[in-house]
Amino acid sequence: MLSELKLPDYREQAPEVAARFRRIKERPIILSVRRLQKTFGADDAGHVALSDVSIDVHRREFICVIGPSGCGKSTLIRIVAGLDEATGGEVLLDGHEVCGPGRDRGMVFQGYTLFPWLTVKRNVMFGLQMGGDSHSTAEAEARQWLDMVGLSKFEDSYPHELSGGMKQRVAIARALANNPRILIMDEPFGALDAQTRCQMQAYLLQIWKKVDVTILFITHDLDEAAYLADRILVLGTNPGRVVEFIENPVPRPRSAAQFISPEYLALKKRLEDVIHPQVESAEEEKLPMVKLTDAGDEVE
Ligand SMILES: Nc1ncnc2c1ncn2[C@@H]1O[C@H](COP(=O)(O)OP(=O)(O)OP(=O)(O)O)[C@@H](O)[C@H]1O
Ligand SMILES: [Mg+2]
Repeated sequence: MLSELKLPDYREQAPEVAARFRRIKERPIILSVRRLQKTFGADDAGHVALSDVSIDVHRREFICVIGPSGCGKSTLIRIVAGLDEATGGEVLLDGHEVCGPGRDRGMVFQGYTLFPWLTVKRNVMFGLQMGGDSHSTAEAEARQWLDMVGLSKFEDSYPHELSGGMKQRVAIARALANNPRILIMDEPFGALDAQTRCQMQAYLLQIWKKVDVTILFITHDLDEAAYLADRILVLGTNPGRVVEFIENPVPRPRSAAQFISPEYLALKKRLEDVIHPQVESAEEEKLPMVKLTDAGDEVE
């Protein structure tokens, strides 16, 4: 059990990690979310999905967003993407207020969003041609990105011929082809099996190393957040709010071998503590129980 191990303080950073964060903080702020408010429905009877959320994200930072279901993770990034409107506060990208969707933000969702009637290459070309690129320019650009995600051989395949992981690699290529300032990812690997998911995480880090892009990545998986992120934004629920913005103490480059390192375990324990706050042990006899089985043995 993590709670029984003697772990370092999750805020303790090795000198190289502290130096890395100093360098990150010297980079310009690319995304600034200021006092963001989102209420669904009429103001007095409405549901407050986000309350007073403020964050600054530096250029080329990898931010993971975690928090219980319904805490407003998707709402936050939909507003950053310009797909939803805030009811208060503002979002600035490169100092300019976000007022709707734009090519400076790429999106990858959990569900497969490729156009099934277009080939892999045409899927990546689509946004480029919509943006005014000629066929040949878009094709050359698409090929470059498909090469980056290791799918050159599949450029003429259709989405139904690809595995889930491959589809998400095409989705990443399609999002990055527009040269966005921010890549916004809402549980992109949530539907993949565990092994493919690990491969995709490693792929994503490799891609991010080569591309000048800032990543905002929602996940439910604490290991995924600890493996990928520079910083982890923890949101709380009712109303959706910032609980903590944690600097990840695990050095880069990341590897599976770090999963048992003291700093990794300390971070994981902290994340578990904030995500699953201590629940008072339920007094069983007070719960209304209906017995539906009579198998002869007791289930603990
Ligand atoms: N269009 C909408 N109309 C009304 N309420 C909404 C709408 N979209 C989201 N909500 C509510 O806002 C809250 C935050 O939703 P959101 O989808 O952002 O949560 P989430 O953290 O992404 O959850 P999950 O982890 O399950 O994806 C929830 O209570 C949800 O019911
Ligand atoms: Mg969501």
